[in-house]
Amino acid sequence: MYYSLVTGANRGIGLEIARQLSQRGHHVLMGVRDPKAAEAALRQVAATGGKATLIPLDLTYPDSLALAVSQVKMLTPRLDVLINNAAILLPESQQLLKAPMSEIEETLQVNVLGALRMVRHFRPLLKAGSRIINVSSEAGAICGGAGTYAPVYSLSKTALNALTMHLAHTLAGEEISVNAVCPGWVRTRMGGQGAPRSAAEGADTPVWLATETDPALTGRFWQDRREIGW
Ligand SMILES: NC(=O)c1ccc[n+]([C@@H]2O[C@H](COP(=O)([O-])OP(=O)(O)OC[C@H]3O[C@@H](n4cnc5c(N)ncnc54)[C@H](OP(=O)(O)O)[C@@H]3O)[C@@H](O)[C@H]2O)c1
Repeated sequence: MYYSLVTGANRGIGLEIARQLSQRGHHVLMGVRDPKAAEAALRQVAATGGKATLIPLDLTYPDSLALAVSQVKMLTPRLDVLINNAAILLPESQQLLKAPMSEIEETLQVNVLGALRMVRHFRPLLKAGSRIINVSSEAGAICGGAGTYAPVYSLSKTALNALTMHLAHTLAGEEISVNAVCPGWVRTRMGGQGAPRSAAEGADTPVWLATETDPALTGRFWQDRREIGW
């Protein structure tokens, strides 16, 4: 049995990743902020016939992550897959020189430091062959120069990409892979109803990285099952 932990698994792309991994026989550990409100999401994942457990966690509270680790340890000594999916997008119009610093800090806390905290806390459960997947965004790609879309959010995704590369180096000796993925523009609360992709399409490449690729493939950025530039 493979154990996979997905943050932000109560809705959107995270819920769909959880559903697809469960369909593939993984025991999915659904990281959620409000377990009571996530009961319906749990039922949706369990309806695929796989196993799923709600794990209460809030990325901004280290104590809640420590509790989440103890809860997961009671289920398994090994985490095969960690998907850092949860993120926030405060108003897209936020400008780096005008947005309140508190909002910029909150974005970086959740989208970047949240992912780093997850890896630090769950480090003892990550073993050779484990895979870390950071759900990022093409908005954070700077290989062609930084874009103008949602500068605060985009900056957080650029930092998440850099974190992915650094963690890939740090964990390479232990055969733990770390990759980043852009799901494309997806119909979720974050993406809005006008987005061209379904949650299932957005979840496809993260699930592919979690299940079908060579676990030695590390330190890369993916979209639609193809490598893209940082
Ligand atoms: N949708 C798109 O078009 C798109 C495009 C590119 C990249 N992405 C990326 O894809 C990922 C998923 O996005 P989505 O569209 O599914 O977003 P979403 O529908 O807004 O869902 C975000 C999830 O993150 C959780 N979350 C937020 N803050 C958290 C915290 N402090 N601790 C724990 N969980 C927290 C939310 O939980 P609550 O329900 O409790 O708030 C929710 O489950 C994100 O990393 C996003 O940046 C999305």
